[in-house]
Amino acid sequence: MSRIAYVNGSYVLHRDAMVHIEDRGYQFADGVYEVCEVFRGALIDEKRHFERLAFSLAELQIAAPLRAGALAVVVREVMARNRIKNGFIYVQVTRGVAPRDHVFPQKPVRPSLVVTARQVDPDKSEISARMGINVIAIPDLRWKRVDIKSIALLPNVLARQHAREHGAYEAWLIDSEGMVTEGAASNAWIVSEAGSIVTRQIDHSILRGITRTTLIEIIAAYGLKLEERKFSLEEAFAAREAFITGATTLIMPVVRIDGQLIGTGAPGPVATKFRAIFHDTAARSS
Ligand code: PDD
Repeated sequence: MSRIAYVNGSYVLHRDAMVHIEDRGYQFADGVYEVCEVFRGALIDEKRHFERLAFSLAELQIAAPLRAGALAVVVREVMARNRIKNGFIYVQVTRGVAPRDHVFPQKPVRPSLVVTARQVDPDKSEISARMGINVIAIPDLRWKRVDIKSIALLPNVLARQHAREHGAYEAWLIDSEGMVTEGAASNAWIVSEAGSIVTRQIDHSILRGITRTTLIEIIAAYGLKLEERKFSLEEAFAAREAFITGATTLIMPVVRIDGQLIGTGAPGPVATKFRAIFHDTAARSS
C-alpha cells in the first residue's frame, strides 16, 4: 500500500509530496506543527492538540489554513488512506510561499498545510517501556548558536516584523545583560563618543558577517581604531554614529534607535565613507 500525504488541498503519494522552495517554513522555520497519537484507530487528545495548533498559529499571526472542522476531516482522510490503526498524524502549517524577505509577506499569502501519517508497531514502544530508557544532560542551547548561519530564523523574522510595524527597518537584539548583539539580519556597529569604531566580538551570540569581516580589513587598511567588544544601547544612544552591515544592506547608516536621533540625526561620515569604498576592497569574483 502506498503512503499518502495531504499537501495544500491534494492527496498525493508521500514520495511525491513537495512544497515550494520559497516556502517560509523551508527558509525561515516560519511555521508550526502538531503531532497527535493514533491509538487503536482513535486520535488521542485531538481537541487539545488542535487548540494548541490554533494558539501557535495565532501567536505567529498565521491564518488558519482550514476551518477546524475541515482540518479534522483531512486528518481522518489521511488516517484512512494510510490505514493507520496505531501511530501518529503530523500536521504542519507555515506562513506560506513568498519571495524571501524576513518580514511577513505584504500581500497575504495562503498558509501551507501538510498532513502526514505514520503507522508504528505499538509492541516496540512497550518493549522499550519495559526496559526503560537512558537520558544524557547537555546545555539548553535552544537556540543560542546564532554564529551558525542556520535557517532557524523565526526569532529574526519576528524581530524584523516588529521593527517594520514600529516604523523601523531593522531591530537590534539585546542580550540578557542589556548589551546589543546584532541586528535581526545584520551586524550592529557604532562610532563611539570617543571616536572608536565598535562592533561586538565574535562568539556564539552573533553571526560572523562576511560584510563585517571585510569592513574590519578596510578599517585596518585605513589605520582606524576598531574595538571588538560589547556595547549597550545607552552607549549607542550617545554614539557619534551607528550603522549596520550585511550582504543585502552593505553598510547602512542608522539615524535613529528607538526614536532617538544618533549623532546629528543624519548618516554619519564614517558609515558613508565605508559604504562608498566598500566595493573597492571586497573580493570580486565572476
Ligand atoms: N543576513 N547577522 C544576521 C543575523 C544575519 O542574518 C546577517 C545577514 C548578518 C550579516 O552577515 P553578512 O555580512 O554575511 O551578510 C548578520 C542576510 C543578508 C539575510 O538573511 O538576508
